[in-house]
Amino acid sequence: MSLVKIIRTQRNSYGIRNVLNRSCPALVTPSISLVSSIRSFHRQRGSQQSGDGNFSMFWKSFAGVGIGGATLFYALENSHERNALMKEAPKNSKITSPDRFVDNLPTYGYEDIAKHSTSENGIWVTYKKGVYDITEFVATHPGGQQIMEAAGTSVDPFWDLYQQHNSPEVEKILETFRIGNYKDARESDNISDLWANQPKRDPRLIMRSERPCNAETPNDLLGSSYITQSNLFYVRHHLPVPEIDMENYKLKISSEDGTGKTLEFTLEDIKKFPKHDVTAALMCAGNRRSQMSKHKATKGLEWGPGAVGNAVWSGARLKDVLEAAGVKPDDAKQVQFNGMDLDATGKPYGASIPLTTALDEKKDVILAYEMNNHPISRDHGYPIRAFVPGSVGARCVKWLNSITISSEESLSHWQRLDYKGFNPSIDPNAKDYAKGTAIQYLPVTSAILSPSNGDAVSKKEEYVTVKGYAWSGGGQKIIRIDLTGDEGKTWIDGTIEQQDKMPAGRHWAWTLWSAKIPIPKGKKEVEIWVKAVDSNYNTQPENVDNIWNTRGVLNNSYDKIKIKIN
Ligand code: MTE
Repeated sequence: MSLVKIIRTQRNSYGIRNVLNRSCPALVTPSISLVSSIRSFHRQRGSQQSGDGNFSMFWKSFAGVGIGGATLFYALENSHERNALMKEAPKNSKITSPDRFVDNLPTYGYEDIAKHSTSENGIWVTYKKGVYDITEFVATHPGGQQIMEAAGTSVDPFWDLYQQHNSPEVEKILETFRIGNYKDARESDNISDLWANQPKRDPRLIMRSERPCNAETPNDLLGSSYITQSNLFYVRHHLPVPEIDMENYKLKISSEDGTGKTLEFTLEDIKKFPKHDVTAALMCAGNRRSQMSKHKATKGLEWGPGAVGNAVWSGARLKDVLEAAGVKPDDAKQVQFNGMDLDATGKPYGASIPLTTALDEKKDVILAYEMNNHPISRDHGYPIRAFVPGSVGARCVKWLNSITISSEESLSHWQRLDYKGFNPSIDPNAKDYAKGTAIQYLPVTSAILSPSNGDAVSKKEEYVTVKGYAWSGGGQKIIRIDLTGDEGKTWIDGTIEQQDKMPAGRHWAWTLWSAKIPIPKGKKEVEIWVKAVDSNYNTQPENVDNIWNTRGVLNNSYDKIKIKIN
């Protein structure tokens, strides 16, 4: 059976949309700019072959992320459906590989491929030495428009960054689309340059993806101390960790409207500002996404409750630095942060926060250069990261390169086309994203860290001791932890074990709590639920049913575990 046929079959049973959409979060939304960059990459490449331009330099600068065009390949990786496809596909696949030219197949160049970018002319893409006709695939794919944006080009740049696609299985499936050999395939393998010299990570972290690195802290280690050790702190990257030349490192600060001064600061300059310490939790918007995915598939990494940590962050107040640069208060303005990690278009990871937040001393926004009293490690943003207490992790931009005061939010993909919340019925497209509101402060949440779901307790015990964390964004204090062992018939007050003593509105750190839940007599299992209440008396929704969203962000539903009684 051809892949297309298999997909047609699968479509009825699983829904091909899910097949295609379930994967790396940052990549689901198409980026037209990325695609035009790929097109310009090919143009550059063509001109280099005719003698002008510098292909190798261009390729190296192409250290970016694939977004739209990668959609086809998400269908082929990281899904149960892919495994189902694999059972069938190899039987009928030709034994070929994208790494090799195939005898008896025609050879095409860049110009030939570029002519096949519409369904009328056929939709072709190249990968390594292969040319693939995906016309039929697109026709069967409800989200075909996304694929169309990569039509007539190479998909190699996507896979350079998202190496989870580079599996023999995926390549085998891809080969079923093979129609030719690509004569303009790059000769040398520059891929490794992108990933050379990535930091070593603590092997105890649970790796959700290697390249880029996304790893979370196991529950037992997360709950074992109020301050999360830096080497055990979750890591969330969208791109390779940049290599920074500290001899020439300067943080640039400017205002788009030309007011204020354009200044450049070395790390040492930033250290001359008064040092400010903030004990604060940092949480990814996708924390606990895996629980949301159990309700219905989401697009994103399957984080457990460990995409959060609590650390002491130290650095200069952003307010002090902006004031030194002559920035004046303006309620309408934004502070745009740009990192040094570049996407496929050469654009940096970026995000923005309101200028009012940055200039408010009580919001404690800092340019952090220390984490837990040591220089911030490369994984966490060395030499300087923006740290915005109480906000979603996405706004705390690492490897800070520049700060721009603007009347606009950051134009970055991660500000405009990701990290926004939608109702359960919306599978957001670019228009929805444009209308949506960027997540800043996070809602109140809590999680159980011990025991683990499925653990057993003896029926001779009277209680099971439950421990976990609670936290609310925007500096709200956790005022109560509510637990139940009988599905809400009776509730127990959790004991707050550790909490900061900050003034109202500045509770940036998490709260650790514990509770004793009675073991019901004559039962084989007890289900334990927790919810936290913050100082605004906001609390958590009982389940994900009505907060579910395709991106799987903002899961702050009750945390629930089942414990066996032996
Ligand atoms: N900054 C840059 N430059 N690049 C990134 O990929 N990821 C963001 C944020 N800052 C990111 C970034 C996201 S989504 C999160 S949750 C936090 O960093 C994670 O920070 P950590 O890796 O230090 O835990």
